[in-house]
Amino acid sequence: MKRARLVRIIATIATVITAALGMGTYTHANFTNIHILFGLLVALILLLLSLVATFTRGLRGLGAIGIVYAVLMPMLGVTQQLILIGDLHWLVETTHLAVGFGALALIGVIGERLIHRKAVMSKNTLSPEAA
Ligand code: HEM
Repeated sequence: MKRARLVRIIATIATVITAALGMGTYTHANFTNIHILFGLLVALILLLLSLVATFTRGLRGLGAIGIVYAVLMPMLGVTQQLILIGDLHWLVETTHLAVGFGALALIGVIGERLIHRKAVMSKNTLSPEAA
């Protein structure tokens, strides 16, 4: 349980740093690579948690959604500069930001479900008649 909480704390810090660096690219273009690195860390955390979820009974669907999300997020990130160039590009930027924080929300949901699932399983192991 402690591990799942630690993962969420790391993911939150990484997402906030990623968002700050992303905004920093407006003034410092050389922030882009480090921004992508932190973004990939967020995607990797989501991917690992989602993989664990796909092997957990009751969380397989959520795990599959997480895996797809973790793959699509970096794809949107690296291609976003080519989409809707012009006046409407802010739509792509806003979507990119929302997708980034969406990943953090998904990490939170999957982490919480894994903690809950583990608690139920250990309760059932301690008192099998209650199962
Ligand atoms: C693997 C994941 C990610 C990749 C590959 C990626 C890639 C990029 C790229 C290429 C840019 C444009 C930089 C420039 O114009 O020089 C950018 C900007 C930005 N990113 Fe990301 N990003 C990722 C994840 C995230 C996450 C998780 C967040 C926030 C939670 C985020 C927030 C932003 C913001 C606020 C900007 C500035 C506005 C914009 O140009 O969209 N990014 N990102």
